[in-house]
Amino acid sequence: PVAERVADLVGRMTLPEKVGQMMQLDARGDVRGLVEDMHVGSILHASPEHLAEAHDLVARTRLQIPLLVGEDCIHGHSFFHGATIYPTQLGMAASWDRTLAERVARATAVEVAATGIHWTFSPVLCITRDLRWGRVDETFGEDPFLIGELASAMVAGYQGQGLHDPTAILATAKHFAGYSETQGGRDASEADISHRKLRSWFLPPFERVAREGCRTFMLGYQSTDGVPVTINEWLLSDVLRGEWGYTGTLITDWDNVGRMVWEQHIQPDHAHAAAAAVTAGNDMVMTTPQFFAGAQEAVAAGMLDEAAIDAAVARVLALKFELGLFEDPRRPDPARQAVVVASPEHTALNVEVARRSLVLLTNDGTLPLAGGLTADTSGRALPADRPRRVAVVGPNADDPDTTLGDWAGNSGQADWLPDGHPRDMVSTVLDGLRTHVPADWTVTHARGAEILTLEPDPAGAFFPDGQPRPPVVVPAEVDDAQIAEAVAAAQDADYVVAVVGDRIELVGEGRSTATLDLLGGQVALLDALEATGTPLVVVVVASKPLVLPPSAHRAAAILWAANPGMRGGQAVAEVLLGLVEPTGRLPISFAAHVGQQPTYYNQIPGQHGDRYADLTQRQPFAFGEGLSYTTVEYRDLRVLTPALDASGTVRAQVTVQNTGDRPTRETVQVYLHDVVTSATWAEKELKAYRLVDLAPGESVVVDLTLPVADCTIVDRHGRRVVEPGDFDLLVGPSSRDEVLLRGRFTVA
Ligand code: IFM
Repeated sequence: PVAERVADLVGRMTLPEKVGQMMQLDARGDVRGLVEDMHVGSILHASPEHLAEAHDLVARTRLQIPLLVGEDCIHGHSFFHGATIYPTQLGMAASWDRTLAERVARATAVEVAATGIHWTFSPVLCITRDLRWGRVDETFGEDPFLIGELASAMVAGYQGQGLHDPTAILATAKHFAGYSETQGGRDASEADISHRKLRSWFLPPFERVAREGCRTFMLGYQSTDGVPVTINEWLLSDVLRGEWGYTGTLITDWDNVGRMVWEQHIQPDHAHAAAAAVTAGNDMVMTTPQFFAGAQEAVAAGMLDEAAIDAAVARVLALKFELGLFEDPRRPDPARQAVVVASPEHTALNVEVARRSLVLLTNDGTLPLAGGLTADTSGRALPADRPRRVAVVGPNADDPDTTLGDWAGNSGQADWLPDGHPRDMVSTVLDGLRTHVPADWTVTHARGAEILTLEPDPAGAFFPDGQPRPPVVVPAEVDDAQIAEAVAAAQDADYVVAVVGDRIELVGEGRSTATLDLLGGQVALLDALEATGTPLVVVVVASKPLVLPPSAHRAAAILWAANPGMRGGQAVAEVLLGLVEPTGRLPISFAAHVGQQPTYYNQIPGQHGDRYADLTQRQPFAFGEGLSYTTVEYRDLRVLTPALDASGTVRAQVTVQNTGDRPTRETVQVYLHDVVTSATWAEKELKAYRLVDLAPGESVVVDLTLPVADCTIVDRHGRRVVEPGDFDLLVGPSSRDEVLLRGRFTVA
């Protein structure tokens, strides 16, 4: 049994070996030192060569304890040349599809496991609340229920049938908890957040995956009430391990332990920091080499009980035994890689999820182009009534990096993987249109504008911990000659498709943005394109909802594509041409202006009409919105259980009809409004949804259920409770009040 093997092994380990076992270190440097001098238990960011070296070295150590190899495989295998990269989490969230998310995670696990990695630092369960934050793309958006659904699916996909399965990898719920509640959107700032607020919105998705068996949790960088999560007894002991009964493994984020010394100045040295972190229940300390000496010093000085180290080591070793690493260290398997990495099945899945990640925000009928086409067996559209000319312009029309998004081996995280993914594996919008328009159409291209230029940070090339400091981003100048070239292309076309957005340098850890505007020459480009009178289709390829200028709102159509992944351009082209229906729905609200933050739909209403003197608070596009190429009518909402007690289940029905002539998949959304609450609460919250396929003209009665046990608020004492009284069930195609049908029920 695992417990016996663990106890036996812990009993035979020296203190340095045990401390090393608790450490995860960056394998981009001196691997020999990590293994031989520090007895490291886990590594991350290892190149294939470093990984092989590390395994060989471990095999020559006294106890030969196998390595746990971790990596950020966030939306596909970010750290392997040519592996499948799916849309970002935010893009996947637009599908609202649990099954699809689970399949993506499963397929990712299969590729990742073949490359010798046992542990992915995914999924992200943070709630986006400030769009300026640099990691919006890594989230499932702004709603705790949707986040919980999709995170639970991804955890299931990664962990598969159980850790003994060689294709299973450990999932990580991160970043526990409240990391995204930033100051001004700046990454990893103090999270000014009450326990009640945490319990209301931030903790529920984590609680769900903790109870469902997510094997590891990563602790965020942030502090709350002056206490970093790394040593936050309330979060770690009372809530996570206490209330939720979590028995999994806790890993810090990057140098959280060291940060308490050099950044947060709440520990005088690494010995104190190590003692505090271990005592608080951390099992694995990420990239704090000083932990090795610090923890030993702390034990020697009586600040740290060795039993706490033993408990942490036992949890780490249990994972290794369960994964079967002592029998087979699961080294990279080149033969298997050749079969599974970017396999045709995974590519087909990638196309499927990319299609479902696209959200049509506006459309005056210009889309689908030429009234909609059908494809031949190769996927190319068949000729329409007459040939068309399409001008494809904009800085993101042919940008593979932004198409892939962050964590795709293309933004410096894998510096031993300089070219990330072969260019021909990535389909940009330009590639997609060139490949999929009918053979008699012409596609022209002009870049039209730049987004930014990069300059060295005057603060220096490195942070105090030795990590490289990213360059400073400077918005590019408007280039009249570039715009003139794009205008000429548009004038000579039947349609102009402008692909705008942000760039990889504006996304990621430590890369929040002060503005949400389209930077550089992009607004001037859109204005100039509008003036040509050629029908303008705006495609937004960006890591977060950006503020779109008036010319974009007046355009014939706007399609939001997030970072759509390797097959993103193909999916965009298919939707523009009507080969595929747009069915994505926003997992996040857009802002009309950066100063409108926050814009999430489930805010607690304020007292003065919730608006600025110079700006309404209405979002241009709200959570849940998205158009199809058909129209869908909702009618006859019937609550079948008007009176219930706390153990009951609300049952309701709504009729949903496709009133147009194209098929669609409708996302039937169910929100709850608690009429009178004992503490202030959101006006509505998503509680359930159903994906319903509708043929042209088809009408379906959709059954909806909601356990009363889910009709909760968090009361003023921080307890999650169902409060008796009246509730409104709100059912419709988005979170907008004006499209929701209402039905009442009463809980006794
Ligand atoms: O997993 C990440 C985390 O999300 C942010 N800091 C670094 C970790 C390891 O790369």
